[in-house]
Amino acid sequence: MNLQFETHSPNDTLSLGKKIGRHLEAGDIVLLFGDLGAGKTTLTQGIARGLGVAKEEYVRSPSFTLVNEYPGKVPVFHVDLYRIASSQELEDLGLEEVFSSEGVSIVEWAEKLFIREDASIPLLGIERWIAIHITIEEEESRKLDLKTHNMESTEHPVFTLH
Ligand SMILES: Nc1ncnc2c1ncn2[C@@H]1O[C@H](COP(=O)(O)OP(=O)(O)OP(=O)(O)O)[C@@H](O)[C@H]1O
Ligand SMILES: [Mg+2]
Repeated sequence: MNLQFETHSPNDTLSLGKKIGRHLEAGDIVLLFGDLGAGKTTLTQGIARGLGVAKEEYVRSPSFTLVNEYPGKVPVFHVDLYRIASSQELEDLGLEEVFSSEGVSIVEWAEKLFIREDASIPLLGIERWIAIHITIEEEESRKLDLKTHNMESTEHPVFTLH
């Protein structure tokens, strides 16, 4: 499945995130791609909200810890790989445990998962995922391209998203 969205303000991106979050379930992995300031954290805040993370939980980039966990309908893991410089560093993080858990994982700078030669498959044993590519169009406009990978055989709520 491949869907395109356009947002015209940070609030729009938050609302879109909420809608996406409401269509996710335990075990899902959302990989976010896009430049600095594209809106990955903003979208993550919305997704967390859509998964029932309370308004009081301030979702911000986990720069130093690399992974933050928020309680929602299911545990929500927010991962930021910006600082990762090698596949060794990536493997040392122990993210397999997060990705195979009964939570939803949202990963900023997912580009860093595609650094081996066969770059079409992410590292760390991720087999099915939702990729969202965000492009900056104008100051306040963003294009978002959502694509599911290896999920077609499942009856997943994301397929009712439009
Ligand atoms: N339509 C939009 N959607 C999201 N953010 C927008 C939009 N228009 C403007 N912005 C601004 O762009 C910035 C997006 O910041 P955000 O932290 O979400 O990006 P990011 O992709 O996580 O960046 P980083 O790579 O630094 O982690 C914010 O300052 C926000 O106000
Ligand atoms: Mg960010």
